[in-house]
Amino acid sequence: MSSPGRLVEILRNKGVLTPGWAPTVAAVDRAHFVPDTFEVEGRTVTRAADEAEWRRMVYADLPLITQYNDGQTPGDGQVGFPTCSTSMPSLMLAMDAIVQDGDAVLEIGTGTGYHAAWLAHRLGEDRTTTIETDAILHGLARRNLERAGLRPHTVLGDGLLGAPERAPYDRTIATCTVRDIPYAWVAQTADGGTILTPWGSSFHSYSFATLTVHDGEATGGFSGRPSFMWARQQRRSYGRIGDWYKGEQGDVATTDLDPRVLEDDPDARFAVGLRVRDAWPLLYPADDGSDEATYWLFDDAHTSWATVEYVPGRDAYETEQYGPRRLWDEVAAAYRDWREAGSPPRSAYRISISPSRQWVGTG
Ligand SMILES: C[S@@+](CC[C@H](N)C(=O)[O-])C[C@H]1O[C@@H](n2cnc3c(N)ncnc32)[C@H](O)[C@@H]1O
Repeated sequence: MSSPGRLVEILRNKGVLTPGWAPTVAAVDRAHFVPDTFEVEGRTVTRAADEAEWRRMVYADLPLITQYNDGQTPGDGQVGFPTCSTSMPSLMLAMDAIVQDGDAVLEIGTGTGYHAAWLAHRLGEDRTTTIETDAILHGLARRNLERAGLRPHTVLGDGLLGAPERAPYDRTIATCTVRDIPYAWVAQTADGGTILTPWGSSFHSYSFATLTVHDGEATGGFSGRPSFMWARQQRRSYGRIGDWYKGEQGDVATTDLDPRVLEDDPDARFAVGLRVRDAWPLLYPADDGSDEATYWLFDDAHTSWATVEYVPGRDAYETEQYGPRRLWDEVAAAYRDWREAGSPPRSAYRISISPSRQWVGTG
């Protein structure tokens, strides 16, 4: 069976399909929103090559990547990074747990239009507004929604500014990651309403922030491990090691901090990411069975890099730092401060937004 019924079955078997959303998942056919070629789990699926496989994946509980590099073909040696997908349906359901009948919702990141179609089907076209920054994707989503027979309000523009013309919204749901939550979202969300967004820094971008709006301010906490594309205006740098490292000699020292703890402990990575927001790590394991690894750090401004050479059995590791920023020193200091503070888990942190400032802390 390759039909919306298959997706319903998968989600029901996984125990994630709530009664409120079941009729919508059954009625809105994901096939209207998926292009003839997409990427799933690292492989390309093309309808013309294998229609049955294409349909099997359309109704899978998997994210399907529909665009890379803002629609530009990556040049020779350039990194391909995903810029649009239809999200994993079970993740959509997890996000939509905040939605109730009667809500007016603003979705940031229309993408294929599939999620907007869910919202429009359940809440009504007039209660659903969705905004997309990419003109081509916006046009495709409108066409997809038309095919599905649904007409929510679709806006072309920068969703970081919200969509004030139809505010206030009971729920503001972003399907792209932000590092700063725009105050416009707070201003355009009704008193008592909710903002839900993938949130993070370049260092760690795998959290949902869920905030309640009250008296023009918003407060909330963090959950989940979502992996969403960045809001285009706030995204981190992408590239290969060679885009930062051109063979220069950096300053060499040693550290007794095993850099792998920063990969393995998501709470540590979250906390370090609060301090080192515009740099990111890459653990590069050796391919000779030595269990050695190089921990790289790169800054978004493309001015600095650092490495830590992990070797098993040692208790000191060589570091090398290049450029105006001492990236390893920054990361190590942030980690040690977090440990000294008692290693608070991510769940201990709160986020607050007022018209003049935005902060995250445990206090
Ligand atoms: C994961 S996809 C969205 C999935 C979509 N909700 C769906 O159901 O297909 C992320 C989308 O956010 C869009 N986006 C990125 N930055 C944006 C911004 N500032 N305003 C609006 N959309 C944005 C991207 O172009 C992309 O289409």
